[in-house]
Amino acid sequence: MASSIIGGLVESGHPADRISAADPYPPSLEKLCAIAPVRVCDNNAEAVASADVVVLAVKPQVMAEATGSIAAAVTMSGAVTISIAAGVTIASMQARLGEGAAIVRCMPNTPALLGCGASALYANEQASEQQRQYAEGILSAVGIATWVPSEQALDAITALSGSGPAYFFLFMEAMIKAGVNLGLDEETASLMTIQTALGASRMAQENNLALAELRRRVTSPGGTTQRAVESFQQNNLDTIVAKAMQAAADRAAEMAREMG
Ligand SMILES: NC(=O)c1ccc[n+]([C@@H]2O[C@H](COP(=O)([O-])OP(=O)(O)OC[C@H]3O[C@@H](n4cnc5c(N)ncnc54)[C@H](OP(=O)(O)O)[C@@H]3O)[C@@H](O)[C@H]2O)c1
Repeated sequence: MASSIIGGLVESGHPADRISAADPYPPSLEKLCAIAPVRVCDNNAEAVASADVVVLAVKPQVMAEATGSIAAAVTMSGAVTISIAAGVTIASMQARLGEGAAIVRCMPNTPALLGCGASALYANEQASEQQRQYAEGILSAVGIATWVPSEQALDAITALSGSGPAYFFLFMEAMIKAGVNLGLDEETASLMTIQTALGASRMAQENNLALAELRRRVTSPGGTTQRAVESFQQNNLDTIVAKAMQAAADRAAEMAREMG
């Protein structure tokens, strides 16, 4: 994720020499330098010493260690700290960075790795307008970035866009299997499914029409699509999706409690 964010920032014109990256594993830094000529070091405190913005792009399990390693430097500089780790609350970060720390918690998703992510952000009261803008600008380098009104809303975001790519993969897998059952070879079924997903997504994004209207336009009365849509509705697709997303949101809240 860090490599994708840095790559996106540099591509959008941010000077590479204004970015410092730290990682305890030198080969990761070598790989990063092949993407952009940023300043690198193996010491977190050194990397953040003169930073305005610090992005913590580590796994939730090492967040405590990473936050602790920068606490003194961040307190000194007043930099805003952005966490992209799932389940790590602002309260737990504030406990390590101090009450006055400006913190932005962000929930990105995997397509960010292709510059096509959907990130939601929430900032604590200590973060200034300018620091919020910094955070939004950084996450916008890997896709769209939007603010949510409460930290709790990030659990819903996790259930929607965080886990969402997997829902679409699952749906596409089901379509491919069904296509094969209808007599297609797997390669053809896969090719047509993936392109259809892309085409539908682009139509939804590029038309100013409601999704229901787009659906109505490809559903001729008495036709094939109508039969399929009716079958989905009779089998309660809405309820299936709602239950799955509730389960994901509950798990996100549970993980935040577990991480303390
Ligand atoms: N990948 C996604 O699509 C995605 C989506 C949403 C959210 N996220 C979140 O984004 C965060 C990063 O995910 P990722 O997939 O990029 O993980 P990753 O590939 O494991 O990258 C984390 C990097 O941080 C380094 N690191 C470990 N401990 C460190 C420390 N104490 N100080 C500094 N650097 C340290 C790791 O080094 P080593 O390799 O040596 O351990 C690794 O290079 C996670 O919290 C994840 O939940 C990821």
